[in-house]
Amino acid sequence: MNARVRLERDGDIAVVVIDNPPVNAGSAAVRGGLLDAMETLRRDHTLRGAVLIGAGPGFIAGADLREFDTPLQEPQLPAVIAAVEGCGKPVVAALHGAALGGGFELALACDARMAAPGTVVGLPEVSLGVIPGAGGTQRLPRIVGIPRAIGMICGAQRMPAAAALDAGLVDAIEPGDLRTAAVAHARAMALAGDRPRLRDRPVPQVETAAVAHAAEAALKAGRGRPAVQAAIDAISAAAHLPIDEGLAAERTLFERLRVSREAAALRHLFFAERDSARHPSLDGTSARAPQRVAVVGAGTMGCGIAITALDAGCDVLLLEQDGAALDRGASRIREHHASRVRSGRLSAADAAGRDARLHASLDWAALGEADVVIEAVFEELAVKQQVFRRVETQARPGAVLASNTSYLDLDAIASATRRPQDVIGLHFFSPAQVMRLVEVVRGRASSPGALATGVALARRMNKLPVVTGNAFGFIGNRVFSAYRRQCEFMLEEGASPLQVDTALQDFGFAMGPFAVADLSGLDIAWRMRQAQAATRDPAARYVHIADRLCEAGRLGCKAGAGYYRYAEGTHTPQADPDVQALIAQCRADKGLAPRSFTNDEIVRRAMLAMMNETALLLADGVARRPADIDVVLANGYGFPRWEGGPVFLARQRVAAALRDDLDWLARCSGPGFVLGDVGRLLAEN
Ligand code: NAI
Repeated sequence: MNARVRLERDGDIAVVVIDNPPVNAGSAAVRGGLLDAMETLRRDHTLRGAVLIGAGPGFIAGADLREFDTPLQEPQLPAVIAAVEGCGKPVVAALHGAALGGGFELALACDARMAAPGTVVGLPEVSLGVIPGAGGTQRLPRIVGIPRAIGMICGAQRMPAAAALDAGLVDAIEPGDLRTAAVAHARAMALAGDRPRLRDRPVPQVETAAVAHAAEAALKAGRGRPAVQAAIDAISAAAHLPIDEGLAAERTLFERLRVSREAAALRHLFFAERDSARHPSLDGTSARAPQRVAVVGAGTMGCGIAITALDAGCDVLLLEQDGAALDRGASRIREHHASRVRSGRLSAADAAGRDARLHASLDWAALGEADVVIEAVFEELAVKQQVFRRVETQARPGAVLASNTSYLDLDAIASATRRPQDVIGLHFFSPAQVMRLVEVVRGRASSPGALATGVALARRMNKLPVVTGNAFGFIGNRVFSAYRRQCEFMLEEGASPLQVDTALQDFGFAMGPFAVADLSGLDIAWRMRQAQAATRDPAARYVHIADRLCEAGRLGCKAGAGYYRYAEGTHTPQADPDVQALIAQCRADKGLAPRSFTNDEIVRRAMLAMMNETALLLADGVARRPADIDVVLANGYGFPRWEGGPVFLARQRVAAALRDDLDWLARCSGPGFVLGDVGRLLAEN
């Protein structure tokens, strides 16, 4: 057919092999080859049916996303699918590995679907800001009904083979030789004259209330994004439109979304996340993912990291200085496993396996076994240095010694040891078992091998590692601090915490900055500001509001009061007149007259502050690749994915206009503001 699709004959059955490494993306060449193959099948009277199968690790992992940024290339997938359905002979999809997006839509157009164990199927297009555009929204409801199709497509669900069999998405799981079984099945269907096409099946009737309920839940979970609404519209249409009209309506919605800015932002993040673990300092270095992980400190982060390592199949040694803290930590980890068993998300056997791989101990001599040691003790330099000295006496030569520090100087920690080359940062986010981001921090002396081991461990844990230089706040906390500082400026100038939070939440952040500050507690940042007081530029603008809140005992949710007040035992922020009075006093102390803000201005200043800090980070070399910063913000700080991140936003702008905006931000911000270089921000790499 062509280089990407070949037709092999197995007697009277055509075996159409899709071979487009690495993931068999459904590129134009693949589509062209499939179309040719279907034409051969239709015309060749010696062929009575066909099997579609992928070479390599999977069937088709989805569309070739690079094509999305170019004009549509022929043939399009609907034409291929029409050819499959119209060839007059049975076609069996033999699925293995990933059969996602367009790959699964192709499979749905076949007359039968057989899957190898380990296959994952699904229509996750909504996570890329589009909808299935080749019949997914019309054929899936014919199997699972409209409400469930809404849940699956809007939730971008990926389903393992066993669940797919239960749901009727695949007809059989073939544990033996998939190709042979699929050929036999195609032959049997040909003999029986059986062509059970989904397009001929009616959509199961359901109550309108069930559809409305599914749509409401999907819109809520999908934050009302346009692709979610479009998917609901397309799926719902399947109930009343003849299939060809439903397909046409779906395609129109797909083509409109495909060229949207939102889809471009989501694709940008998709590629940035795929590349996030690559870093020039790792070129030519490879490392095996470590098996034995020691975690020092069994607090919030230590336990979360231990859970993640256990989930990844590692052996975990949990160490403490304090017996009671160790017991609490180990129980917390076991209880986490038990609760997942209770909720049906983990089998009892898997939970027992994880518990058995956890060794909690006060005996640090056991450290000698570890490949990687991750320190998660109190955030104090002297404490961490002392821990690293102690770890060093026990750890084997070449073991990687990592710190989970949020703000401390990694080089100062490394300098406490005689093997700074083995020291790196592994900055997990809270809760560590949930958040995918890990900043892998490269100290002055960190060896490429140690860094590569950190990256390999993070990947084994199914995390998104981003390599960052060692500088205050690394990438994420530094950009986030600049953003929060700008929001504090706006409080001082006249906005209220609620107005700022609401504006940024409406923009898409999971939470506004002041609600976030209350949730994490104001005291840590307060202590940090006190520590920095002596070295701070006295001429720089400094907002006293947070200090005054802390001095008043308003340390955030845990104290029942911070920027907001909280009813006993709740985390629901309520605007507090006392805070308004405190802010008014801070303004009066500086002789500032409050002015009003629009929500647009709040978002604009907050985003410009992020962009400016991003430019500074790039100039300092802390972040190596601009897109890494977007990965960090979207995965660690609740930045709305559909906005792409500060770098993506900046690149939507013309350089001169952006420069003018940053100059304006500098004027709004006052003394101490350091202006970043727009050229750095807009440079490709
Ligand atoms: P935590 O206070 O919950 O836990 C610290 C644990 O370390 C305690 O169990 C304590 O007994 C133990 N510990 C203290 N000194 C020790 C020593 N010398 N030897 C052995 N164990 C010792 O603290 P958390 O929140 O887990 O933070 C730990 C680290 O993670 C800090 O560096 C923090 O900055 C960082 N981090 C925290 C995040 C958070 O959201 N909590 C997020 C990312 C990083």
